[in-house]
Amino acid sequence: MTLPSSTAEALLHPRARADDRVSLAPERPQDQAAVSGLIERAFGPGRYAKVSERLREGNVQALHLSVCAFQDGVLVGAVRQWPILVGDTRGVFLGPIAVEEPARRHGVAGLLIARAANLAAEAGERFVLLVGHPPLFAPHGFAPAPKGQILLPGPADPRRILWKPLYAGAVEGVGGLARVPPRTAL
Ligand SMILES: CC(C)(COP(=O)(O)OP(=O)(O)OC[C@H]1O[C@@H](n2cnc3c(N)ncnc32)[C@H](O)[C@@H]1OP(=O)(O)O)[C@@H](O)C(=O)NCCC(=O)NCCS
Repeated sequence: MTLPSSTAEALLHPRARADDRVSLAPERPQDQAAVSGLIERAFGPGRYAKVSERLREGNVQALHLSVCAFQDGVLVGAVRQWPILVGDTRGVFLGPIAVEEPARRHGVAGLLIARAANLAAEAGERFVLLVGHPPLFAPHGFAPAPKGQILLPGPADPRRILWKPLYAGAVEGVGGLARVPPRTAL
């Protein structure tokens, strides 16, 4: 990506943590084009083949649970969240998450994941589910769902099917096919 030179110079110093340099805010309609551009750069066209995409197409993004990270007013990272059903239980599906290449390895993704999970908890949701990289999500309370408990609409490595219960007992008895909620439930 091409950042304005003043912003590029201000980007996070090597080994500096992002906490006091990055501001987080829910994704607004006017952020959507920039967030989509960031996701395209981070994942490329191959992302449409991923099983996670089957849970996003035809779905309606939960903008109030999606988070943008800005540095000096420029978008440097984002995470999106979506309503989902697992069996008949409603939850939240997280992804994609992406950070602009020059801003990586400073904890921006960690800030986004923590905020996204907190927003879901504050909204009274039961769990956040995702298909992703365990070392990135484990520090934020995500763990593999018991093998076979969650079925996805396509192949996925079960070690990458991660979820985080948002309160004690929140995922007891939850299991089955993960799917896009019907329109009437969105
Ligand atoms: C993955 C991604 C979002 C991480 O963003 P980030 O801001 O660099 O991540 P953080 O700095 O918050 O890293 C948090 C932890 O995740 C792990 N991690 C992050 N990127 C990693 C990588 N490329 N490989 C292995 N571990 C990684 C590390 O354990 C890191 O801990 P550390 O800070 O102690 O090193 C970013 O590299 C990206 O946008 N990649 C392309 C898109 C993508 O792959 N998205 C995730 C799909 S699951």
